[in-house]
Amino acid sequence: MESADLSLRVATPDDAAELLRVIGAAFSARRPVDPPADALADTVDDIARALSEGTGVLVEADGEIVAGLLIDIEGDTATLRRVSVVPEASGQGVAREMVTAALTVAADLGASRARLVAREEFPELIRWWGEHGFVVLGPAPKGLWLGRDLPVILDVPTAEAMQELGRRLAALLRPGDVIVATGDLGAGKTTLTQGIGEGLDVEGPVISPTFVISRVHPSRGEGPALVHVDAYRLGEASELADIDLDASLEQSVTLVEWGSGLAEWLAEDRLDIEIARGQSSDVRTVYLTGTGPRWAGALDELREQA
Ligand SMILES: Nc1ncnc2c1ncn2[C@@H]1O[C@H](COP(=O)(O)OP(=O)(O)OP(=O)(O)O)[C@@H](O)[C@H]1O
Ligand SMILES: [Mg+2]
Repeated sequence: MESADLSLRVATPDDAAELLRVIGAAFSARRPVDPPADALADTVDDIARALSEGTGVLVEADGEIVAGLLIDIEGDTATLRRVSVVPEASGQGVAREMVTAALTVAADLGASRARLVAREEFPELIRWWGEHGFVVLGPAPKGLWLGRDLPVILDVPTAEAMQELGRRLAALLRPGDVIVATGDLGAGKTTLTQGIGEGLDVEGPVISPTFVISRVHPSRGEGPALVHVDAYRLGEASELADIDLDASLEQSVTLVEWGSGLAEWLAEDRLDIEIARGQSSDVRTVYLTGTGPRWAGALDELREQA
């Protein structure tokens, strides 16, 4: 199965029977556990009710559902349940895409945190969730509660508003922070960085690092310097290593433009900022996702303004 064939969508109660089939296939392929997974006792009515009271995300390949999950929302917390990928579709990044979409759906519905129960019998699953930013919160009736903050999603109407977002973000930043900004050409990564530079009160101007890969902006005061990197022109992670970022990482705020899939090794604690542009207007949608203990709850101030 080619990953290009995959499409994701929000589930409706009409999908209950198909989703039940996927849940059954996924959970019965796991090693048996005692007590058995609740998922194996689900009925179509259970799933239809869950989808009408909450929501869900489905992945289709060639029109057939190959993965799905349920999302229950209570207050500011989204609980993911029945995270399922049929065995034939596993190991292709399907779960990753589905969970990423689910976090966005939950954030759009106003939740600020996601959680789920994982069985301790499946340490490999707990590790997988860990790689996707989930940390162990504590014991659950049949396993462990895992949780993470949801992305903060902001609509940014103008370039000035993007700089203002940068200034507000700067107030939350500390030495050692690593930010990875992604988005198409002209999305607004450098514009955001200009606002961060102003907020940090570093020497400017912050401009596209077109002819240099990285530029250090020293603080005008006591604060951290801003290291502005354009990873777009780097071929691979080894070239990024060559420019010796590590030396200044601890004392500086480091912002890497277009570093997705390239700069992740820089820090386990990382703020990912994805900027998406609409079809016609200047409005950008900005997704801020903090990963690791450093960022737990750190963006809540921005979230309140969303
Ligand atoms: N809502 C907005 N947010 C950010 N920039 C905007 C917005 N509306 C219009 N713009 C304009 O879009 C352009 C964004 O350019 P910028 O250099 O910041 O993008 P970039 O993502 O860094 O691009 P590159 O991939 O070339 O590095 C600027 O000219 C800016 O004025
Ligand atoms: Mg740029």
